[in-house]
Amino acid sequence: MWLAVIGSVGCGYVGYPTPPPATALPAVPGQSTGLFTTAHASFGEAATHFFDRRAEPVQPFDFPHVTHVQKGIKCTEYCHSNVTTGPVAGIPGLSTCMVCHQAIATEKPRIQQITAQSKTGVDMAWKRVFDFYPESHVKFNHAPHIRKNVECATCHGNIAEQTVAKRNVELTMGYCVNCHNENKAPVDCLTCHY
Ligand code: HEC
Ligand code: HEC
Ligand code: HEC
Ligand code: HEC
Repeated sequence: MWLAVIGSVGCGYVGYPTPPPATALPAVPGQSTGLFTTAHASFGEAATHFFDRRAEPVQPFDFPHVTHVQKGIKCTEYCHSNVTTGPVAGIPGLSTCMVCHQAIATEKPRIQQITAQSKTGVDMAWKRVFDFYPESHVKFNHAPHIRKNVECATCHGNIAEQTVAKRNVELTMGYCVNCHNENKAPVDCLTCHY
């Protein structure tokens, strides 16, 4: 029934339940905060960061971004609504998945898997993909970028075509500063560091 509606209107999310209110989600571990941290926990960590060898995060569940985007669900509609409202973008918990999946595709084994997990009260331990090294003390806020209509893909790549999100864009200082220079945005050190 759901899918019949979706198929006929062409623009997926028209028939979906009302999105949950954009309440502040808890920060995902490692997300930059106002908290001052120093140095590295270990020599190994320091070496890894120095040579910028980031391990590709292994997610607890292969979330298919592409499937959802093709159904017309917008990035900021249900899952990343905090991007438009605050500094912490947030990754959705299972309760957000269940807004739709209590009714959508319930016969599929992978949906049954997340439904079963949501009943245990233990959320998905999603890993961060776009984070900074804590010792860089970078402060970032989506809002000024979204106001200037910078596309999500400029900084996050073609996530709409991916299953699990990949870090295909390296958000280095040079990348930020180049665009700031081109757009006459501030490049003062304290714009981005604290
Ligand atoms: C706004 C509604 C919506 C939300 C929120 C949502 N989904 Fe979906 N999901 C869909 C739709 C629609 C499909 C496509 C169903 C189909 O093709 O049968 C889908 C498909 C899937 C599939 C593929 C199922 C299969 O085996 O073919 C998986 C896995 C999935 N979703 C997981 C999740 C997870 C995990 C979350 C939370 C992080 C989530 N979804 C949040 C609407 C949603
Ligand atoms: C100007 C670059 C830029 C743009 C444009 C941008 N982001 Fe981000 N995004 C970032 C940075 C940088 C971080 C990491 C921030 C931090 O750790 O404080 C981030 C983090 C995130 C996260 C958390 C991911 C993780 O792995 O922890 C999500 C979700 C996110 N962004 C979604 C979006 C969406 C959706 C859009 C478009 C509406 C968007 N972003 C546009 C730069 C950007
Ligand atoms: C695609 C271009 C682009 C990229 C890439 C980009 N920015 Fe920006 N950023 C802007 C623009 C344009 C503004 C100014 C918005 C305005 O004038 O309100 C801005 C504003 C900001 C501000 C607010 C400045 C202020 O005080 O008004 C911060 C902080 C910031 N960016 C940090 C970053 C960081 C950190 C990165 C890299 C992870 C980054 N930006 C990448 C274009 C970009
Ligand atoms: C537009 C945003 C922006 C501006 C302006 C900026 N930086 Fe950065 N800086 C970054 C980002 C992003 C990183 C990389 C963070 C990461 O990958 O963890 C970084 C990394 C660094 C690092 C490396 C930290 C480490 O330990 O790895 C230093 C040092 C640094 N910046 C100093 C400066 C100084 C000094 C200025 C002023 C001349 C400045 N930055 C201006 C965004 C900015």
